[in-house]
Amino acid sequence: MQTMTHAALTSDGSARIVQGGDAAPAISIRNVTQRYGEQGSANAVLALDNVSLDIGRGEFVCLLGPSGCGKSTLLNVVGGLFRPTEGEVLVGGKRVDGAPHPDEIAFVFQESTLFPWYTVIENFRIALKFQNVPKSEWDDRSMAALKAVGMASFANHYPNQLSVGMRQRVNMARGICVKTNILLMDEPFAALDEQTRMVLGEDLSILLAETGKTIVFVTHSLAEAVFLSDRIVVMTARPGRIKTIVNVGEAHPRSPDFMLEPRFSELRNDLYALLRDEIRQAMASQRDPAGA
Ligand SMILES: Nc1ncnc2c1ncn2[C@@H]1O[C@H](COP(=O)(O)OP(=O)(O)OP(=O)(O)O)[C@@H](O)[C@H]1O
Ligand SMILES: [Mg+2]
Repeated sequence: MQTMTHAALTSDGSARIVQGGDAAPAISIRNVTQRYGEQGSANAVLALDNVSLDIGRGEFVCLLGPSGCGKSTLLNVVGGLFRPTEGEVLVGGKRVDGAPHPDEIAFVFQESTLFPWYTVIENFRIALKFQNVPKSEWDDRSMAALKAVGMASFANHYPNQLSVGMRQRVNMARGICVKTNILLMDEPFAALDEQTRMVLGEDLSILLAETGKTIVFVTHSLAEAVFLSDRIVVMTARPGRIKTIVNVGEAHPRSPDFMLEPRFSELRNDLYALLRDEIRQAMASQRDPAGA
């Protein structure tokens, strides 16, 4: 099991997270195994195999691995969308028992999940209402989050009046404005162009420094993983296991200058070297989807 005593850095160099000792981790994933389909049947899939990981409060952790290695499965188990076949997840020391915890955990998915028949701000109000946030706070919180992603002037637009990139910025802002300590993000920028991705990545790094949220983020982009993460969890081809964990050790908020540093390219190249074999293996196993 990967336990951790981890200190991420703020821009003034002080420790933002001091994990270990008495403090329970924000998220503790313990020996999680996930099987899909009936064992022994042609559809049986071993998606995750004995995954254990502690994630500190305020930490930004990226899950990186070949397609089909169980990243979304792991995120969904952490979010309580279902109970794993074996093992357990604790959030703030309490067991997540296959039930969503909207007061603790917010999700941002690849596809915008805004209700099309409500305006942007109405979508936010619904999310806040669902979280039992007092009505008097709804609009202030919503506008602050929209401002953070440069979308304040679109509060009264309907989702279909926005571009794909704008919708996803709004989607991210909604994940920010709810008061959960934990934000789970499954390839939230995958549908966006590179420039928008980079700008939103910067916004997310600023947000992390400001709010101290714990973020678990799935991406296929090596550069995005290095730019955003405190730690990058590299997973094996299915069945998903933790192959290794890479520490980035750079203060948040991060500026684009970080990408120009030799260390940035080194980390990205290291990640590629770690993933290359796994990606080949994943491609081969797509010809044998059982993989269990
Ligand atoms: N609801 C489900 N029922 C059956 N099998 C599933 C289900 N969800 C996922 N799987 C299988 O579990 C494995 C892991 O899927 P998962 O979606 O977690 O991978 P991923 O790492 O998120 O992939 P990607 O990068 O392509 O999004 C895959 O083989 C997938 O087919
Ligand atoms: Mg996925």
